[in-house]
Amino acid sequence: MHYVPNILIIDDELLMRISISDALKEEGYNVQSAASGSEGLRAIRDNAYDVIITDLRLPEVDGLQILKACNQYTPKSKILMMTAYGSVETAVEAMKQGAYDYITKPFSMDELLILVKRLMTLRELEDENIYLKQKIEEKYDFSGIVGRSERMLEVFEKIKVVAPTDTTVLITGESGTGKELVASAIHYNSPRKDEAFIKVSCAALPETLLEAELFGHEKGAFTGAIKQKKGRFELAHKGTLFLDEIGEIAQTVQVKLLRVLQEREFERLGGTDTIEVDVRIICATQRDLKKEVQKGSFREDLYYRLNVVPLFMPPLRERKEDILLLADHFLKTFSEQMKRPFRELSVEVKELLLRHNYPGNVRELENAIKRAITLCREGVIQPIDLPEDICRRYDEGEGGEMVSQLQHSEPLSNAVSLFEKQYIMKVLEETKGSKTLTAKLLGISRKTLWEKCKVYGLEKGQDGE
Ligand SMILES: Nc1ncnc2c1ncn2[C@@H]1O[C@H](COP(=O)(O)OP(=O)(O)OP(=O)(O)O)[C@@H](O)[C@H]1O
Ligand SMILES: [Mg+2]
Repeated sequence: MHYVPNILIIDDELLMRISISDALKEEGYNVQSAASGSEGLRAIRDNAYDVIITDLRLPEVDGLQILKACNQYTPKSKILMMTAYGSVETAVEAMKQGAYDYITKPFSMDELLILVKRLMTLRELEDENIYLKQKIEEKYDFSGIVGRSERMLEVFEKIKVVAPTDTTVLITGESGTGKELVASAIHYNSPRKDEAFIKVSCAALPETLLEAELFGHEKGAFTGAIKQKKGRFELAHKGTLFLDEIGEIAQTVQVKLLRVLQEREFERLGGTDTIEVDVRIICATQRDLKKEVQKGSFREDLYYRLNVVPLFMPPLRERKEDILLLADHFLKTFSEQMKRPFRELSVEVKELLLRHNYPGNVRELENAIKRAITLCREGVIQPIDLPEDICRRYDEGEGGEMVSQLQHSEPLSNAVSLFEKQYIMKVLEETKGSKTLTAKLLGISRKTLWEKCKVYGLEKGQDGE
């Protein structure tokens, strides 16, 4: 039998209860209503609801208390708060405590139905229904995103949950962690995949230009506006709008953005016609927006509108299992693209790549591999083909760290070689690459040093005296 979702409405206004209830029943939902907070609490304790729509301001037991009870008794239910104008701050507080969204009274039934539908989709997807999960699994294509670390598997899971919905996603993470890649994966795995995926880099444009870019302008709206231009919101209609570097937008643009997010409508600059759009929003930022809110540079209400589903991209140094996998992926992709023979990484290069801490994350690794493919003339890729700062890390470890790197099954000669190599690199660096001085300090002949450098792939890149 087909499952009919259950909804509870809590409102002390009779007319409100009836009209919402009728509209939802017409859509085929099972609906119950409660005329007070305490009646609502009883219903929550006794039944399982998929969605609970509650008024924020209720006599005695109010919406926030209902929310608390829901967190305790039915954590899976999705809560939608109804608020009056002026109590938006409390509504934001409610979202902090786990309400899914809020809707400001008066609202149209259509608006409410859209929200409820969204909640239902989310609810269904969260359900541990194996059958459903498998079906979703089959549909996904993450071919562009490489990773098998626990952290990346979590990212994939989250993409699967949010992609089919219209929910706003806020992607955070350091530079080069793959935020844009994930944004496009969400779009291309969503029902909007055949519509536009429009990107706006919010940091690239000054305030007024950004406004014009987002909302478009009429002819003559400002100097230089010689003809009417559609904004990115309009261009993204029915598709997805990716607002990159959202933490950089000015307060005035924040206000306008908030309105579009709430009402899904806006006017072009210099225009009077109201334009309605159906756009799914994905944002990204390197900043900690919560801190920006505390500092007062980012609007709190906008933050909660954007941060409906947060998605954090872990830095590469926290998922080392992915490093060699990614390196291999880039080797394959770029050798093909650059029409160069496929080269493998030497053991030393693998060690170096694993030891580096990647302030530039995946982008840094990507560039290092691209460079190595270009520099490597023959054989396997050697340390000398890597950027200096990846090589340099080699001499920074204490002996103990070096030992822990080696497998216990490694012969002593390997350990000795590893030490010898690192020691030579260290002295070479201290002498700024002077082979004569290095040989002297090490108490060996220049010829021996030269031979050792060759064996360890250190022969190039020094000052060559
Ligand atoms: N998991 C991954 N698999 C394959 N390629 C990746 C992965 N993560 C990132 N990349 C590649 O690394 C580069 C940087 O990724 P992206 O532009 O998505 O990062 P970002 O987080 O948006 O960075 P920024 O904050 O600097 O804009 C891109 O070329 C992207 O294709
Ligand atoms: Mg980016």
